[in-house]
Amino acid sequence: MHNNDPKSNASHELSLQTQALHSAFQADPQTHAIAPNIAMSVNHTFSPEGGAFSAQGLDDISDGPFLYAGWTNPTVRQLEQRLAVLEQAEDALSTATGMAAISATFLSLLEAGDHLIISDVCYAGVFEFATQVLPRYGIEVSVVDTRCTTLVRDALKENTKLVHIETPSNPLLRLTDIKALSLLLKQNNILLSVDSTFSTPVITQPLTLGADLVIHSLTKFINGHGDVLGGCILGSKPVIKRLRAIGGVYLGASLSAHSAWLIMRGMETLYARMKTLSDSALTIANWLESHPRVCKVLYPGLESHQQFSLAQQQMALFGGIIAFQVDDIDSIEQRFAHESAMFYYAFSIGHQRSLAVVMRTDDLDASTYRFTPEQRTQFCRDAGAGVVRLSIGLESADDLIRDLKHLLR
Ligand SMILES: Cc1ncc(COP(=O)(O)O)c(C=O)c1O
Repeated sequence: MHNNDPKSNASHELSLQTQALHSAFQADPQTHAIAPNIAMSVNHTFSPEGGAFSAQGLDDISDGPFLYAGWTNPTVRQLEQRLAVLEQAEDALSTATGMAAISATFLSLLEAGDHLIISDVCYAGVFEFATQVLPRYGIEVSVVDTRCTTLVRDALKENTKLVHIETPSNPLLRLTDIKALSLLLKQNNILLSVDSTFSTPVITQPLTLGADLVIHSLTKFINGHGDVLGGCILGSKPVIKRLRAIGGVYLGASLSAHSAWLIMRGMETLYARMKTLSDSALTIANWLESHPRVCKVLYPGLESHQQFSLAQQQMALFGGIIAFQVDDIDSIEQRFAHESAMFYYAFSIGHQRSLAVVMRTDDLDASTYRFTPEQRTQFCRDAGAGVVRLSIGLESADDLIRDLKHLLR
């Protein structure tokens, strides 16, 4: 009979690729089923003498017996444990969306009078939440080009508590040197959280480079099939306990067991998917770079990427997202939206099928960034009037290039 006790498998010696399939998994002891069960129950019975509400406090609940799915549940916990293994974290909290993971982090770790630094280019929801909502609660927010550690150092204040970065960033694929930044922040007793959605643990493991927290939108590559929303935060046990109490319980941002089950199923092919789509994206990025209608390609695996040497150090693969500028954004947008045989014209990233969307600088400025003239000039150096963002899926690179040739004719 298959021995699926992780201890007897010496799981610490297994590669992460293998652990994506085996960690936190046990065949059902009664039926011997080898697909995980879904525990849909919201509640679990408990004995009042067991001390569920002991002096440990409610935020210690994830180490105790299961009580209520707002804290966690057996299927959700299985996902959390598997994510923790892949990111080499002490613990994980999963949430209903990626955005919930980020807002739970900010609201749990910051209070009125604190200062937060975020990257000047990041997912619109994060940028808007940080710059438009947090200041209403007395939290000071600075927007910094975190590609440059010195600029972050210059922006630090007495009250800086957290620096939040995305690397690579959405949508311009800018990188931040996690190791250098974490060294600086540790000296100043400031936490570093890294949104690693574009990388996944297959490409970069921010905690091993010194970050305090890693955040993912599980909606994207980790689930990988565009059919479920989810998010997670990984880090030390005490910080995750605090986040579970505030993010999971008070904000009510817990993940459902059904979603956790789907995400775990997606994770089982994560390593194979990331390898395939990164290889295709590199081929496509190189092809785009030589196309006469393409003015600039942003992809960390290209030698022309401003931070190519950092990408080589920090990323095991270069991922599935490419952004590029074209000579006539209006006509190209129409073709992607109406004539593509391969790319679905849609927001989001990280599906098994390729996606494309045009992101115009004017729209991003008006809705999200509200640039100063100087910030706009900086942004336009990479983005021009806007970029086509591609999320490369699992189709063959040849088929995708044939379609791109047609669209860029
Ligand atoms: C880098 C990044 N972080 C977070 C999010 C938010 O994730 P979700 O849509 O799961 O809330 C996104 C969404 O696109 C993203 O691209």
